[in-house]
Amino acid sequence: MNTMTDRDTHRVIPLMDVRPHGLAVPAAAFSSGTRLLTGGLLADTRGRSLRDLRISVTDRCNFRCNYCMPKEIFGTDYPYLKHADLLSFEEVTRLARVFVAHGVQKIRLTGGEPLLRKNLEQLIEQLSKLRTPDGQPLDLTLTTNGSLLARKARALKDAGLQRVTVSLDGLDDAVFRSMNDVDFPVADVLEGIAAARAAGLGPIKINMVVKRGTNEQEILPMARYFKGSGLVLRFIEYMDVGATNGWRMNEVMPSAEVIQLIQSELPLVPLEPSSPGETASRWGYADAQGRHDPAAGEIGVISSVTQAFCGECNRARLSTEGQLYLCLFASKGYDLRSLVRGQASDADLASAIGHIWQSRNDNYSEQRSHLPFDSGTPVKRVEMSYIGG
Ligand code: GTP
Ligand code: 5AD
Ligand code: SF4
Ligand code: SF4
Repeated sequence: MNTMTDRDTHRVIPLMDVRPHGLAVPAAAFSSGTRLLTGGLLADTRGRSLRDLRISVTDRCNFRCNYCMPKEIFGTDYPYLKHADLLSFEEVTRLARVFVAHGVQKIRLTGGEPLLRKNLEQLIEQLSKLRTPDGQPLDLTLTTNGSLLARKARALKDAGLQRVTVSLDGLDDAVFRSMNDVDFPVADVLEGIAAARAAGLGPIKINMVVKRGTNEQEILPMARYFKGSGLVLRFIEYMDVGATNGWRMNEVMPSAEVIQLIQSELPLVPLEPSSPGETASRWGYADAQGRHDPAAGEIGVISSVTQAFCGECNRARLSTEGQLYLCLFASKGYDLRSLVRGQASDADLASAIGHIWQSRNDNYSEQRSHLPFDSGTPVKRVEMSYIGG
């Protein structure tokens, strides 16, 4: 498919400001003729609705996964955000309330590592009280590396968190320690997952980023381990997100190959999507008759490189310092913090968010599939540790 270029032999790590200044909210959002109210059906320029809000609560992490926060860039002198720059829990909740009034049904807390944010339970408690316009509670979840889950699972559940997704890139201790790059033992994450189960934070999903040449040998052991456990294991194609991970196409293992590999030992059948705009394609373990065996469970593959899923992308992202990003691959976000900290009323915020969503046309992954596969272009994209997965 792709041939090696001289770029493939050098790891290019562009140095740049990974926290761009925010875009100003369009003035039209506030003029009387074009104000947008909540409650209507909000669609972007591609007809996609706003359903999923991902809120990053810290840009810090205690892991240094090479595909996300490589040590060479995120060293001890990395300029993380100052506390005063972070949205407070009250500011986050106020914005979340407006997003929910506009149709958001799912809120995912991310980071960095969200469990590093002090007193996160207080934010969860506030968010868990929000209701959709028809009175339903939100699907309130969190993505974590699992390192602090054993200690925190019970308190998170008590605060109103419904479920968690845990990142886990392998079961072999040496592979896992080298992927997190801080020598963190896999046993402690497994203990965290067990604690989340015991606390009732389900359905639990396990996300494994597959990097060819690094952890592909962990695919089958992971599939065997989680089959029949009630947990949903998802394999994620290594993405060119951010600008610091030195992404190369030859390190991407296409999901089709992952499925083929698992099928060779554990027969699978395709399943229907469980909701529109879902990131993962679902596959169920088959019984002897070739039908899905619900007791054996299912896996998912997230194929943003080989099969873009922008067509129904209903996700907005709020960065730690209150910038609204319309795509994981965007280079700029809209500065909502200055509105929240200024004179804006809730109606102003609603109008601003409505206008921003209505003008959205992002579809990066689809565009990338028409580009030559390459790496190293020093594009000014935001880091995933800053806006969250
Ligand atoms: P569930 O509701 O639990 O199924 O979660 P989800 O699949 O929406 O979210 P999760 O955070 O578990 O996403 C899994 C992974 O998919 C992320 O870590 C990213 O690698 C990738 N991903 C999520 N959203 C997007 C997106 O909008 N675009 C792209 N390209 N990748 C995404
Ligand atoms: N490619 C794919 N997924 C990534 N994540 C972070 N960086 C990447 C990348 N380059 C996702 C992983 C991790 C979550 C926090 O972010 O799923 O579990
Ligand atoms: Fe931390 Fe998750 Fe990024 Fe790894 S992928 S460095 S655990 S935020
Ligand atoms: Fe959505 Fe952007 Fe991901 Fe496409 S690349 S699915 S538009 S976040």
